[in-house]
Amino acid sequence: MEWYEVAFDRMYPILYSHRDLEEAAVVIDEFEDLFLDQSPILDLASGNGRYVETLRRRGLECFGLDLSHYLLRRSVDVFGHNGCLVQGDMRRLPFVDSSFGVVINMFTSFGYFSIDTDNLLVFKEVQRILRPDGVFLFDFINAKKLSIDLLEETHRVSGDFEIRERRRIETRGKYLLKNAVIDNSQTGHTETIEERLRLYTREELGIMFESVGLRVEETFGDYERNPFVDSVSERVIVVSRK
Ligand SMILES: C[S@@+](CC[C@H](N)C(=O)[O-])C[C@H]1O[C@@H](n2cnc3c(N)ncnc32)[C@H](O)[C@@H]1O
Repeated sequence: MEWYEVAFDRMYPILYSHRDLEEAAVVIDEFEDLFLDQSPILDLASGNGRYVETLRRRGLECFGLDLSHYLLRRSVDVFGHNGCLVQGDMRRLPFVDSSFGVVINMFTSFGYFSIDTDNLLVFKEVQRILRPDGVFLFDFINAKKLSIDLLEETHRVSGDFEIRERRRIETRGKYLLKNAVIDNSQTGHTETIEERLRLYTREELGIMFESVGLRVEETFGDYERNPFVDSVSERVIVVSRK
């Protein structure tokens, strides 16, 4: 099994409980002008459905695609997302060409494949399913900033769970490897989750976008929509257009 098939399952909502509906609403408040008159919207790697829910609550036609059966199930159980979710792989999107006015890919839902051409395939697929002039909102971690102030080891408590995370950067800055050990203080059960992320820089991402026919229009450095500043910004948020 690939790491992302294991990591994005039952333990994901425990490890990333702070990535919730409230945060999604704050982000969409900032970026909602991109969605005007552009539906339908696809949330690519929609996870537990927090962005699908936020956009649908604003009356927008939004669909979600994700690989994780567990997270898709939560999206249905928690938000009632019946009929607007698809289980699939982001490298092979089950939609015909030019189906969507907007695609969003939020909170580092990219760089999961060990082969660069597989990661590029995701952008190719986004370009294919966007209508001409359609918009792609892409939100990734800023690899440069991460490599400067990487927290190698952290420890926190979340409800019944004690979480120890170790992070290291490998292969000359190309990969972030994260290992989380989660202890359930109630049951005594321990689980380990591994993540392996290909750390593309803003420059590399720009080249990838342009190579598949997505024109980069703006790059922001955080969810408040401040301009991207190399080595300082937490995020690389790219708005591109087909
Ligand atoms: C970090 S989570 C972010 C989820 C969501 N975008 C959010 O902001 O809450 C990454 C998501 O990517 C999904 N994913 C991982 N590999 C995938 C693949 N090959 N195809 C589609 N989705 C995938 C995971 O199941 C998970 O829901």
